Amino acid sequence: MVDRLVLVGMMGAGKTTVGRLAADHLGWRYLDSDAEVVAATGCTVRELFAERGEDAFRAEEASVLAEALTGDESVVVSAAGGVVLAESNRRLLMGSGTVVWLRARPGTLAGRVGSGDGRPLLGEDPAVSLADLDRVRRPLYEEVSTAVVDVDGLTPLQVVDRVLEVAGLGTATG
Ligand code: S3P
Repeated sequence: MVDRLVLVGMMGAGKTTVGRLAADHLGWRYLDSDAEVVAATGCTVRELFAERGEDAFRAEEASVLAEALTGDESVVVSAAGGVVLAESNRRLLMGSGTVVWLRARPGTLAGRVGSGDGRPLLGEDPAVSLADLDRVRRPLYEEVSTAVVDVDGLTPLQVVDRVLEVAGLGTATG
């Protein structure tokens, strides 16, 4: 079976930073769904939302996710916060290997995303938007994940350690 470690969770949970570090440590390929969408379309996430709308962005997202989760190399995938919204994505995630939910309190997320630059769903008041999205999405992250790491108060390296541990892949720090 192909080794796949997928990170899910809200914007600001640390999926990209932690995913990169984990992939480096494991010597596995690294893929970030947002970066793949940008590479496939030549547009930033914000441009896609503004020019083609959220549905078009979600369609691109589903397509890159399917590709990322069906390759035959060992890979760490950081899956953008909204991938769990589509049932077809959730089904794909559930059959794709180890899926770790980086769970954070909304206050932690708000502190990390700042003014929400580059994240079109965050609007005028990122803290309020994040709390609203978090409420809706928690059960979906729970549904797709095989393990959970609570990231509040942890450094990225500490999170990597816990992720590797819950995934049964050792630890980054020995
Ligand atoms: C989104 C999360 C973002 C990006 C877009 C929408 C979401 O990715 O795909 O702004 O709906 O949660 P990150 O989770 O990597 O920030």
